[in-house]
Amino acid sequence: MKKKVLVTRKLLRSNEERATKFWEAKLNLNDEVYSQKKLIELSQGCDGILSSLTEKIDEKVISSLSPTIKIISNFAVGFGNIDIEAAKKKNIVVTNTPDVLTDATAEIAMLLILGACRRANEGISYAKKENWKWSADFLIGKQLTGSRLGILGMGRIGRALAKLAKAFGMEIHYRNRSRLSPEKEMGAKYHEDLKSLFSVSDVLSICCPATKETKDIINKETLEYFPTGAIITNVARGDMIDDEAMVKALTNRKIYAIGLDVYKGEPKIYPGYLNQPSAFILPHLGSATKKTRTAMADLAIDNLEEFFNTGNCKNKVN
Ligand code: DGY
Repeated sequence: MKKKVLVTRKLLRSNEERATKFWEAKLNLNDEVYSQKKLIELSQGCDGILSSLTEKIDEKVISSLSPTIKIISNFAVGFGNIDIEAAKKKNIVVTNTPDVLTDATAEIAMLLILGACRRANEGISYAKKENWKWSADFLIGKQLTGSRLGILGMGRIGRALAKLAKAFGMEIHYRNRSRLSPEKEMGAKYHEDLKSLFSVSDVLSICCPATKETKDIINKETLEYFPTGAIITNVARGDMIDDEAMVKALTNRKIYAIGLDVYKGEPKIYPGYLNQPSAFILPHLGSATKKTRTAMADLAIDNLEEFFNTGNCKNKVN
């Protein structure tokens, strides 16, 4: 008998076709963002859920899920939207989609750096209004060549970004839970603590996972560690930035510019960023290429299949 799987968001057509070959898949044809109540109702009788980062699957939801659910396969590398400990207690395996989105996300990390350093937000706005006049000092930004890039979180995405940034002539510094081997470090300088990393970061890229330890890691106190005029970018999760402190730092020019792809409480964006000329902001586009989204959904499907066939999965996170 075919397994039953709730697919919470609309996938690309080739992925949905694949899912329906394997399972009795409950697809979301209108791509509605399900409330927690609706997700619980729809999952009744299913064997697994293919979830997305738009659903908050917290302890309350997990405790109300149908006992038939044995796996939640998250269509993302991040899994901060799921209470993995609560899932574990209920014997529900949670999986993610690492590797396949590394390059696409590193590209967006690089775009954030370029956009913030070279004042793309202001530039786009002048160009669209046709109200600009070229002059020697018009919209002068910060050049990447020779500047120091601090990478917070030197996992797959951090390392892919380091390669790209080196091609732009940046000097790479990083902080990670543990120091990388020399092959993985590729000349990047390791910092034992945040203060040490931030104090040499002309540009910072946040690439670490959202955890209790990294929540609001950029705050009033740590912002002071940066050189005046530093640039901060975030391609990971919004949880890492205390937005109020950040906007103050942008307003008083301690921080020159910010580049953001992710936000606390997405799709809402902290209002202070919206009218800030030095904020280059994107709507969570990290993995948004056809190649990557197809590979991510295929991997989320593979994770379910591996689990249904073997009782385990190599991309299990709990
Ligand atoms: C992820 O996989 O965590 C990305 O943020 C999704 O775009």
